[in-house]
Amino acid sequence: MNRPDKKNAVTFAIYESMTAAFEGAKADDSVGCVLIAGVPRAFSAGNDLADFLKAAEGTGGFNHPLLQFLPALVRCNKPMVAAVSGVAVGIGTTMLFHCDFVVAASDACFSTPFVSLGLIPEAASTMLVPRLVGQRRAFEFLVMGHPLSAAHKELGIANIIVAPGDVDAEALKAAREIAALPAGAVTLSRALMRGGTDELLTRIDQEAKIFGERLNSPEAEGAFEAFFARKR
Ligand code: COA
Repeated sequence: MNRPDKKNAVTFAIYESMTAAFEGAKADDSVGCVLIAGVPRAFSAGNDLADFLKAAEGTGGFNHPLLQFLPALVRCNKPMVAAVSGVAVGIGTTMLFHCDFVVAASDACFSTPFVSLGLIPEAASTMLVPRLVGQRRAFEFLVMGHPLSAAHKELGIANIIVAPGDVDAEALKAAREIAALPAGAVTLSRALMRGGTDELLTRIDQEAKIFGERLNSPEAEGAFEAFFARKR
């Protein structure tokens, strides 16, 4: 992701190119590992709120490239490494729960402010986060929206914490280590550890249906407008 002036807020175009990258990686036998990276101080500020505001004001239903991005993320059968520096908000955090190895910079800050935006968590995070950190910590993180810093390593969001300047190099090192392993054995082991994708895809659909309804709620529209009004 490379939109530094907007802290890597994810636009339609970014979702579409990442979806194509995941599908391309899956289809390409020469790809041993996928590396997802942002820019210094911004892995991603989450979904572009201007796009959400447009969706909230529109009447056309929830037709958003997130609906292609999330299944492509789940269906991509290649190991995924993420290099996270700075802010990781919303989808910038929830996509990490699908990754196999996460390198976080010491300045990384993970947050999921869905509920304060009038929305609900997505990307099957309502299933994956309670499994990872337990129900009560998941509630604090996903519903109350309390951020987690890289220092919360015990919660298992990141595998390793490194200096901000080293995050891309360390993630590339991990990706190369994985890509150098026998690919067939990696794919089979990963699939066994994860189980089938049906459960995840079903939860993504359930969340997306509610998410789309919430997007059209006055609560959500008001929260998006407040974000853009904050500097005025
Ligand atoms: N959508 C659209 N634009 C965004 C954005 C988003 N999610 N996040 C940041 N931006 C834009 C800001 O509007 C600002 O643009 P401007 O320079 O034209 O005013 C620019 O990116 C830099 O953001 P800024 O808020 O000035 O940086 P910061 O370092 O003070 O704060 C964040 C960074 C990520 C904490 C803050 O921007 C933020 O809270 N963003 C919204 C996160 C969010 O709610 N995402 C959706 C989750 S579902």
